[in-house]
Amino acid sequence: MASTNDENGEMIVTPWEVKGKVDYERLIREFGTQPLTEDLLKRIGVVTGNLHPQLQRQIFFSHRDLDTVLDLYEKGTKFVLYTGRGPSGPVHIGHLVPWIFTLHIQKKFGTRLYFQLTDDEKFLIDDEATLEQTRNYAYENALDLIALGFKPEDTFIIYDVKDIDLLYELTLEVAKRITYSTARSSFGFQDSTNIGWVFWPAIQAAPCFIHAKLTGENVPALIPAAIDQDPYWRVARDVAQKLGYHKPAQIHCRFLPGLGAGGKMSASIPETSIFTMDPPDLVKRKIWNAFTGGKGTAAEQRKTGADPTVCSIFQYYFYLFEEDNRLLFDRERRCKTGELLCGECKNDLVIRLNKFLEEHRRKREKAKDEIERYNMNR
Ligand code: TRP
Repeated sequence: MASTNDENGEMIVTPWEVKGKVDYERLIREFGTQPLTEDLLKRIGVVTGNLHPQLQRQIFFSHRDLDTVLDLYEKGTKFVLYTGRGPSGPVHIGHLVPWIFTLHIQKKFGTRLYFQLTDDEKFLIDDEATLEQTRNYAYENALDLIALGFKPEDTFIIYDVKDIDLLYELTLEVAKRITYSTARSSFGFQDSTNIGWVFWPAIQAAPCFIHAKLTGENVPALIPAAIDQDPYWRVARDVAQKLGYHKPAQIHCRFLPGLGAGGKMSASIPETSIFTMDPPDLVKRKIWNAFTGGKGTAAEQRKTGADPTVCSIFQYYFYLFEEDNRLLFDRERRCKTGELLCGECKNDLVIRLNKFLEEHRRKREKAKDEIERYNMNR
């Protein structure tokens, strides 16, 4: 099953819904993935030098077949990267987390990236969505991707609706080999599910093999993505060998928490999400309203300290805005001892966030002139 939905409705993790407190250890067990071991991290470090903070901090924490991909790489066979985005709305900073990591891996390993924008998926699963809307969001979201610094030579963006000709043969080969019963149990389809959605997972599987098909270079794909996408990869892995391709490998990340108490950053709760297009005063307001581990009064907090483990603000430093471990630990320590109050910590974050977003929007604007150079169909 895609969903790990316990009796009390505590945790749900499916490609379309993430709710409750996410227990990552349990996901590793239930999805049957592997933890990222010290040994694997060392092998990555041999290529990358210093480990990326997202690896050091276990933001990427789980994988399938990363060892196989590294075995091949060490023997001289490259891999390609594949990731994507469902364009259901504007991009928030949680979406950037795996993309930033993907860019790092791309640079260090010198690999290609295939990036799928699933304007078809978002049209099918949302009763209200129109194709025009999802296509527009696909364009807008691509600008956010490009703004991070991907280079057109190595980056191939697939807009599903427009580029379906590139994917269609592979999609058919995949779809023919997935039974309805497998799809239903992997994705939780119901009698009321529209048949477009039932067929759709074959389209997300297709880019796993597109490099091999189009270039004849039979190399594996490595997919950096949040762990909710895992059901897709299970079906893609089942059919890979029947089609004569490598099984796609995955490296899974956690979700950036929202600014509320618990739960991931979600576009459907805009008050607790920071979107890349949020103006500075809105960012400030959202951060000031965020849930922290602080105490009722400054006096009390100075005396007993606060709790960074439950604080949403601290998570932003941890995930994105404090790369220096020493400074991160120092912030944690000063929080716990009551030296650092929430107001100061929030203020620092507002400054960093707005600086980052301002720069991001400048690059995003520039991306408008470059976007065609990234088209898969070029
Ligand atoms: N289904 C994903 C979403 O809704 C979009 C997607 C397509 C994707 N291909 C992918 C995500 C590969 C990660 C990796 O967001």
